[in-house]
Amino acid sequence: MSAAFEVKRTAAEFRAACDALRAEGGGFGFVPTMGALHRGHLALVAEARRRAAHVAVSIFVNPTQFGPHEDFTRYPRPLERDLELCREAGVRLVFTPSPAEMYPAGERTRVRVSGLTETLEGPFRPGHFEGVTTIVSKLFAASGPAVAVFGRKDYQQLKVVERMAADLLLPVEVVGFPTVRDPDGLALSSRNAYLSPEERTRALAVPRGLARALTLHRAGEESAGTLRRAVLDLVEPAATRIDYVTVAGADDLVPIADSERVGRRALLAVALFVGTTRLIDNIVFSEDNAPVTTP
Ligand code: PAF
Repeated sequence: MSAAFEVKRTAAEFRAACDALRAEGGGFGFVPTMGALHRGHLALVAEARRRAAHVAVSIFVNPTQFGPHEDFTRYPRPLERDLELCREAGVRLVFTPSPAEMYPAGERTRVRVSGLTETLEGPFRPGHFEGVTTIVSKLFAASGPAVAVFGRKDYQQLKVVERMAADLLLPVEVVGFPTVRDPDGLALSSRNAYLSPEERTRALAVPRGLARALTLHRAGEESAGTLRRAVLDLVEPAATRIDYVTVAGADDLVPIADSERVGRRALLAVALFVGTTRLIDNIVFSEDNAPVTTP
């Protein structure tokens, strides 16, 4: 008989259900999401299940991490389908709170990580990471997981959450899971649903550019400028607007100037628009596999 599947809408009910799962023993894992689940999310759930006997998922489109001109209202919310996917994936508990539950009237508290949030996405999405760290710390406080799994597609988010958990002495292991891609290399994202077929084809310039840079790096190229240019050459004709193509330290996220060498391990991160859809992607040299085999 399969284990019971529960859905909770209030933090108090969710906390009690997490306490009960923890008491069953075997470890308790957590995957925070904004829903519109795809294979990437299900891979995070599978990783959590490898590491813990019981897994909870949250589905919450967090208003505080969206800017005023971003896609908060149109973000897809296929809740019934998401719940079914969670049930099929062996999730024991899903938390689907309302905004008022997570941000009750009179709330005044925000969690902010400095430094790591000030590069890459930081200047383009003011307040975004403060929204992320605030909601993730609330979700950790409500659930008390031993392990929480995040996708490496949002690499900066992963580093920021790792830092936050360490700084707040939270007893949770934050695990980063490799980006899951379609066979043609496009990183899975709930926002890919916004792309028209023609835009989706153009978006393939991103994984192809990253793959080309990775091939160059594997062949010994260490010039940050050359590696960056390898991506730019492919994405410039495809993108409607480029926010950044940046080489940065893989841990401190500090950009590396074109004139510098990257060394063995560094992050190459991209954020751009195809049409009105903003896409992000990245690779870490010496850590990640090629996004596509034919750059
Ligand atoms: O990566 C996401 O989906 C969100 O940023 C997260 C971690 C669920 C916080 O809202």
